[in-house]
Amino acid sequence: MLQFKLVLLGDSSVGKSSIVHRFVKDSFDEFRESTIGAAFLSQTIKIEDKTNHNETVVKFEIWDTAGQERYKSLAPMYYRNANAALVVYDVTQQDSLAKAQGWVTELKTKVGEDDLVICLVGNKLDLCEGETTPKAVDSKQAQEYAQEQGLLFHEVSAKTGEGVKEMFQSIGEKLYES
Ligand code: GTP
Ligand code: MG
Repeated sequence: MLQFKLVLLGDSSVGKSSIVHRFVKDSFDEFRESTIGAAFLSQTIKIEDKTNHNETVVKFEIWDTAGQERYKSLAPMYYRNANAALVVYDVTQQDSLAKAQGWVTELKTKVGEDDLVICLVGNKLDLCEGETTPKAVDSKQAQEYAQEQGLLFHEVSAKTGEGVKEMFQSIGEKLYES
């Protein structure tokens, strides 16, 4: 079994805890409380090696950090030694992408690009699915930024679960390959 340490970063209320709960417990709470300090959860996935048809179990040890400004100074404790970082923004909040970009810059200067898989995550995709709420963050713009910076990019909904498993699977595969 392989183990990888994952950290979630991003502005308060973008849905970091909701993404983790969807992935670990397959549940969603409309009234989730803001995280204090950080929370720890773990989950395993299976990776199939296409060359020899072997399955490997990968365990993610997940640190869900608190996005509120007053906890910002704690973040380095959690991203230090991380194998992957999920930098989350809310697709309905343009500001939250700028915050996410700030985290990407911090990670690249403090951790170094070679040691960390970074995934940019646009959450709350469900809110833009009707024609009611326009998407504040253009997918193409976010994707181009991710490409320039060499990041993985996923759009998900913690509420419906859309894209969540696939995202963790692709992070697991990327870590497994490296
Ligand atoms: P902090 O712990 O303060 O950093 O916030 P967080 O990023 O962990 O956000 P959290 O998961 O607590 O979610 C904030 C609010 O957004 C909650 O009321 C959630 O129910 C809601 N929310 C989270 N994900 C989604 C989603 O995919 N769609 C919708 N519609 N609401 C969501
Ligand atoms: Mg939280």
